[in-house]
Amino acid sequence: MIVEDAFAKINLALHVTGQRDDGYHLLDMLVTFARHGDRLELTPADKDSFEISGRFGDALGDARADNLVIRARDRLRDAALQAGADAPPVHIHLQKNLPIASGIGGGSADAAATLRGLSRLWEVSLPATVIDAIALSLGADVPMCLHSTPLIARGIGEVIEPVADLPHFAMVLANPLKGVSTPEVFRRLATKTNPPLSTNRAAGWLDAIRLMRNDLEPPARAMLPEIGEISAMLNEQGADLVRMSGSGATCFGLFQSSELAQTAAAALHRQRPDWYFQATETIPGANMAGANMNGGADGRS
Ligand code: C5P
Repeated sequence: MIVEDAFAKINLALHVTGQRDDGYHLLDMLVTFARHGDRLELTPADKDSFEISGRFGDALGDARADNLVIRARDRLRDAALQAGADAPPVHIHLQKNLPIASGIGGGSADAAATLRGLSRLWEVSLPATVIDAIALSLGADVPMCLHSTPLIARGIGEVIEPVADLPHFAMVLANPLKGVSTPEVFRRLATKTNPPLSTNRAAGWLDAIRLMRNDLEPPARAMLPEIGEISAMLNEQGADLVRMSGSGATCFGLFQSSELAQTAAAALHRQRPDWYFQATETIPGANMAGANMNGGADGRS
């Protein structure tokens, strides 16, 4: 059996810089990944099957038959067979731990984990360009979820540049378990040509990220007041920085240590047991694996 993690995608920043002729928006995103997410188990079987469990498994409802995991399996199989490889039947068990349609890429991360895991199970190594094209055909966020390490993504998410010096952060994920429609959030944008990401991090990453934005946050807050409410709750817990991820409604708070993040998540859970709060850590860039939290000895540089 192969186990593959589908880590939550966190938009530390998301700048909307323009719009393509087909309506898709051009984005500049600073993205990292939480060490928390969905989990896929892939087991060779007599015939294909798909099982979903986990806290948010039931919430998938009708999306079950049309799940991105199934589409990823089928598209990878077609490509594998075309390349002359075997792609035998597989039982896929998805443990759905992330809230559905909540701006942290759950479905995209699941699809990317399916591509990674089945490539291993079937022992097929297709060219990166083929896998990237399959990923993009499944959704704009799937190529970055294939990486699952800190990166800057541009275009609609397909132009990817790793950020090797991004440190790991202690984080609390917070979601009021109410959805916002992604197309509607984009539609309500006041301006679609906003300043791009500035990657000047001379003053340290935390200060650099503070100067960045999520341009989707104002329209999402206008649609769902709970986003403002949950952000205020994270601030009250002493987060260094609070922002919304993707098109919402998940917000995150960055904390100085994992202990502070865990204490904050527990307090928040006591305040609103019906909402979602998860303490986690993000994955550091390739050059930062041994570094302290937030990058430096003083915890801030
Ligand atoms: O990629 P995803 O399926 O999450 O996109 C959902 C919707 O969000 C799209 O149909 C589109 O309306 C909007 N979108 C956009 N520009 C992007 C990504 C998404 O306008 N870069």
